[in-house]
Amino acid sequence: MSNLGRDLDKLMQDKLTSFRYEHVKGVADISEELAKRHGLNPKAAYLAGIYHDALREESKKSLLALAARYQMNVEDMEREYPVLLHGPVAARALEEEFGVKDESVLEAIACHTTGKAGMDDLAKIVYLADMIEPTREYPGVERLRKLAYNDLEQAFYVSVKHNILHVIDRKKKLHKHTVACWNDFVDLGGPIGIKGKG
Ligand SMILES: [Fe+2]
Ligand SMILES: [Fe+2]
Repeated sequence: MSNLGRDLDKLMQDKLTSFRYEHVKGVADISEELAKRHGLNPKAAYLAGIYHDALREESKKSLLALAARYQMNVEDMEREYPVLLHGPVAARALEEEFGVKDESVLEAIACHTTGKAGMDDLAKIVYLADMIEPTREYPGVERLRKLAYNDLEQAFYVSVKHNILHVIDRKKKLHKHTVACWNDFVDLGGPIGIKGKG
């Protein structure tokens, strides 16, 4: 994996619009910084960050075709909203096309949009970096940026909650992985300030 993240940087710059490239570069840089801060592998974090939206600009048709090519299981909701596949399909592409075997990196990419139950710290970092990279602007983002460095669990909880409420505000459906991610917080208790099962 040593320099793959940096090699992919150039590839993303050529492939994506400048707006999207600026976003993925920001996510890679912040993921790397957060990994250093929280004792994780910075190169793995950078790699996941730079590739997480590699397929974000693909058409619905293309995402479904790639999912079929990789023989992936596609949920009804993903057929309805194929954009939800851009993470899972990118994870498979990174494995198939670039030989990346690091499950943690692949999982971080796969679940960066919906979250899921039992995410590891690298996945939490990439999920968070996606929300706090420098071009992101929304009420509370500065607070979340500070929290991400000081308390990963709490910051992850705040970001998942923010995203769930945003989905609800727009009267959209919640993906089952997002619901499972929320239920994890309830079981764990700590981050949301209740007594959990864990
Ligand atoms: Fe994304
Ligand atoms: Fe993103």
